[in-house]
Amino acid sequence: MKEITAKELELNPITAISEEWMLITAGTEANYNTMTASWGHIGSIWGRSSFGMGTAICYVRPQRYTREFIDREAYYTLTFFPPECKEKLAYLGSHSGRDEDKVGKMGLTPVFEDGYTYFAEASLVLVCRKLYQAPIVEEGFVDKSIVESVYPTKDFHDLYIGEIVKILVNE
Ligand SMILES: Cc1cc2nc3c(=O)[nH]c(=O)nc-3n(C[C@H](O)[C@H](O)[C@H](O)COP(=O)(O)O)c2cc1C
Repeated sequence: MKEITAKELELNPITAISEEWMLITAGTEANYNTMTASWGHIGSIWGRSSFGMGTAICYVRPQRYTREFIDREAYYTLTFFPPECKEKLAYLGSHSGRDEDKVGKMGLTPVFEDGYTYFAEASLVLVCRKLYQAPIVEEGFVDKSIVESVYPTKDFHDLYIGEIVKILVNE
């Protein structure tokens, strides 16, 4: 993996997240977990001078096992993969790490760094430092139909805003 700057990053964040998907991973070699996500944002907030590599948002429902690790750790990673890995991402997004070693089953290779984990098969890794966490609240919806269609059981996501501290690409 090669480290690059935000300026060197070539990414369409809309299609990369919503169509190709990403893994949200938190934890360390002692224990970690990962899950697939297709909702998120990459951009900027609170001043470029402070967070010059940009910031990323992901959305995690309360019942996800991965959530326990994101809440516990200071860092998490957003990991993107080449198209041939999509079936693995589908599996990791429909099975819980609570019940099985889903990463082992999918044959992905975790790479353990100081305080965060990503996967050797990744095409792109964004290492994020947690800056902000907040629940999505029902009162906030201007378009109330989203509550009915996305949250029939009111299991609102928490959103996490992270400072991107490192960008790695697979050459
Ligand atoms: C394509 C896809 C996208 C998903 N996007 C999200 C998401 O953005 N946020 C979320 O909370 N769950 C999302 N999920 C569901 C979780 O990945 C899924 O519940 C997973 O099994 C959780 O694993 P865990 O319990 O090991 O954390 C998505 C699933 C799929 C298949």
